[in-house]
Amino acid sequence: MLNVVVLAAGKGTRMCSNKPKVLHTLAGKFLISHVLDAARSLDTSKLCVVVGHEAEQVKSALANDEVVFVEQVPQLGTGHAVQLAAPLLDERVPTLILYGDVPLTQVRTLKRLLAKVDSRHLALLTVQMSDPTGYGRIVRDAQGKVSKIVEQKDASVDELAISEVNTGILIAPTVALKKWLMQLSNKNAQGEYYLTDVIALAANDGFGIATEHPDAQWETLGVNSKAQLAQLETIHRAQVAQRLLDAGVGLADPMRIDVRGDLTCGMDVFIDVNCVFEGVVHLDDNVKIGANCVVRNTQIGAGTEVAPFSHLDGAIVGQKAKIGPYARLRPEAVLANDTHIGNFVEVKKSTIGEGSKVNHLAYVGDATVGAKVNIGAGVITCNYDGVNKFQTIIEDGAFIGSDSQLVAPVTIGAGATIGAGSTVTKDAPANELTLARGKQVTIRGWKRPVKR
Ligand code: UD1
Ligand code: CA
Repeated sequence: MLNVVVLAAGKGTRMCSNKPKVLHTLAGKFLISHVLDAARSLDTSKLCVVVGHEAEQVKSALANDEVVFVEQVPQLGTGHAVQLAAPLLDERVPTLILYGDVPLTQVRTLKRLLAKVDSRHLALLTVQMSDPTGYGRIVRDAQGKVSKIVEQKDASVDELAISEVNTGILIAPTVALKKWLMQLSNKNAQGEYYLTDVIALAANDGFGIATEHPDAQWETLGVNSKAQLAQLETIHRAQVAQRLLDAGVGLADPMRIDVRGDLTCGMDVFIDVNCVFEGVVHLDDNVKIGANCVVRNTQIGAGTEVAPFSHLDGAIVGQKAKIGPYARLRPEAVLANDTHIGNFVEVKKSTIGEGSKVNHLAYVGDATVGAKVNIGAGVITCNYDGVNKFQTIIEDGAFIGSDSQLVAPVTIGAGATIGAGSTVTKDAPANELTLARGKQVTIRGWKRPVKR
């Protein structure tokens, strides 16, 4: 078990935004939520977030997260931030420090760091940088043991030449950490209480200071500007694409897929360019997703093909269905196997039975559609009277002629045929032809008016 303190009080001036920095999103998720998720993947018993700048916005955005907030106003430095969280920390377990604006640290890296802490050792996550400018430098003694961290602005010329830098992420035994935090001073170039000064205090007390490194440098990159945010988004996108490719998913272009959530795929799935996946999406074996689709919180059964430019949100699609191009499935659209939903068809809160087809320009809302139904071009379920919603039931084998309106509540019986252009306001009996449209007349000898 461990305590985790996430520092998120800073302003983020360079984002040029009214939003607090940690509430900007990466892969559709707040920066800080990436950090909180990583913390929760560890054996975290106490999760504290230090907020300061725009604290209320951050707290309300995270209201559903089980975290304890600590307010830091004014912000007197990273050491000061952890000082304020200290009273909340369980002294029986170590404390890990993370940052709300460093979103991509991998859990496996943090686990390696955790393995190095005990009552006499703390552990720092460090990286080698060809250009270490701006970072705290890791100073080692003649034996190679870490003796302190010196900030850029306080460093000597020799220290500035050190290429091993502090990522800021560290884990320490909590009793000792609390003691060192009490001893921090702000007599330094920035007049701040530096968390990094804890290292020299620990070394003086004879504690061992272990270091660990992330698998990739991007794991410890922070977001300070929109450019850095875009850079991390690109890195994250490439990582997700690589994981999909490794799992056997076919991607037309690994740089042109955006996964903003959890995408799982069966065997031999293929995804064409510029698709966006949001929330929890599952694509079963042999699913094909055409170019430029957006798929959110949707499950798609084996062998189904989604043609380009389709938008699926909150849908459950069976096997071997054909969706799109330009189809729109809205929440609670449930499509059985072998269904066809064609271009410019919108389906909302409706079930469509096996083998049924809605191929062109239709709206199906609040409807229960049986098996082997054919819904013609331009058919609309009129489900809304401006105040309330009503159900349409279309039983197995019905045929709804083009450009018909089914005014709900209404039931179309099994095997019924509705003539094209009908406005159906009463139930249509099974196996009969029902027509509800003006009769066609021809006026013989009628002449078009001529210009006077
Ligand atoms: C810090 C480290 C530096 C390290 C670098 C890595 C210190 C003194 N220095 O420097 O060694 O190389 O991170 O990026 O720790 N924050 C608060 N309250 C505060 C100050 C900061 O919550 O009073 C938060 C910020 O929101 C930010 C993080 O702590 O998320 C780091 O603060 P920042 O001022 O960016 O630290 P650096 O100067 O970059
Ligand atoms: Ca600073």
